[in-house]
Amino acid sequence: MAKNVVIIGTQWGDEGKGKIVDLITDKVTSVVRFQGGHNAGHTLVIKGKKTVLHLIPSGILRSNVQCLIGHGVVLSMSALLKEMAELEEADLDVQSRLSISPGCPLILPYHIALDNAREAKRGKAAIGTTGNGIGPAYEDKVARRGLRVGDLLDESLFADKLSQVMEYHNYALENYYNHSVIDYQQTLDEALEQASVIRPMIIDVADEIYTRMSNDENILFEGAQGALLDIDQGTYPYVTSSNTTSGGAVTGSGIGVRDIDYVLGIVKAYTTRVGGGPFPTELIYDVKSDKGDPVGRELCARGHEFGATTGRQRRSGWLDLVILNRSFKLNSVSGICLTKLDVLDELSSIKICVAYEINGMQSKIPPFSAEDYSIAKPVYIEMPGWQQSTIGTHSFDDLPIAAQNYIKKIEELSQLPVDVLSTGPDREETLIINNPFD
Ligand code: GDP
Ligand code: IMO
Ligand code: MG
Repeated sequence: MAKNVVIIGTQWGDEGKGKIVDLITDKVTSVVRFQGGHNAGHTLVIKGKKTVLHLIPSGILRSNVQCLIGHGVVLSMSALLKEMAELEEADLDVQSRLSISPGCPLILPYHIALDNAREAKRGKAAIGTTGNGIGPAYEDKVARRGLRVGDLLDESLFADKLSQVMEYHNYALENYYNHSVIDYQQTLDEALEQASVIRPMIIDVADEIYTRMSNDENILFEGAQGALLDIDQGTYPYVTSSNTTSGGAVTGSGIGVRDIDYVLGIVKAYTTRVGGGPFPTELIYDVKSDKGDPVGRELCARGHEFGATTGRQRRSGWLDLVILNRSFKLNSVSGICLTKLDVLDELSSIKICVAYEINGMQSKIPPFSAEDYSIAKPVYIEMPGWQQSTIGTHSFDDLPIAAQNYIKKIEELSQLPVDVLSTGPDREETLIINNPFD
């Protein structure tokens, strides 16, 4: 029987979703993105060749797979065209294999200006956004004034709506943010030119999914960001502006809640976060000055923890089962995919956070607000490291015993199976213990 599988990040993003989506796409006919935008950076490595995708689903490298962008995704035409051009340079035919929902909110130049102006105004309290206009585009959607992909089908209506919305935003840019205004005519001309490439790709994505489901096809839903960046359930306000949890697959694509058969939660074997906000198990290290915690340095260096979208250093730290256990519930995770285990290969001892100490009391419940997080101190258990390579291990029994024990401990603490294990960036460096589609 065909299945719908959702893949989501369980931490603060960059868990390795892209790699795993690409890997298990051999079992599907289509991959659907349902939230976020080009703030995502999903890295695929196939036989040493690296591809970074931002907006295009990570099924694009398999020629028999259709890629769908659901209405929950905020779409920058500039970013999409750039990404398409890069893939087409590598001889991939994108246009015929990519479809876009008319319901996707458009990201336009004034969203980017607003994103950056807001961040500048927040000063030290900046979120550390990707600067891609994601938040302002979602705000326009919720405020019911935004332009959508479907609006590109009627040029004069598009021009009218754009004029209204730009009048509003330019007022704020000029008078509140002391920022130069964005030129209307230039924005319109550019959008209409880009629209000629986008228009042929517009289809009713939800209906396409229903047709594929009725044809008994497997479908993969690819999340972006991670559960702790969810607008409702993450470490607010240090979050992104979409629902990054598995429920987003429902609201952002058009399927119903009973249509999800399995949720694969991607868990990095340690934790990273890029941008501001709480991070209790962080091992503070700064790459520019090369100062800070030696384990933080090791994780950053071995894990190449630099953002795939902005190139910023990712903050790194120990695995945190308090936030993960909440994340598993938020997402109704069926099974875990543990990634980047090999990054821990050299460590002599490894810690897992199992509770927080808050005002002298131990708690297994994550704090509610960013302020509450500031007084949460991690309580750790410590396990011996394995100090040998796990890269590309193809059987669980071939893993060092200490690595097996680390994985078993995660299973015990989460009461979930580790169904997939990743021990290197390449598609080949993966061990599928239970395939979510079987
Ligand atoms: P995503 O946003 O969740 O798709 O993850 P990113 O692509 O932003 O970041 C994950 C990084 O780790 C990428 O550079 C991947 O190539 C790399 N990666 C993925 N899985 C593994 C793994 O098991 N081991 C190692 N060493 N690197 C991995
Ligand atoms: P993938 O899909 C990691 C973070 C930003 C910032 C916050 C808000 O590659 O895992 P935004 O531009 O979305 O308004 O920024 O969210 N962020 C990510 N962090 N991985 C991502 O995507 C991210 N997308 C956004 O760094 O802290
Ligand atoms: Mg990423």
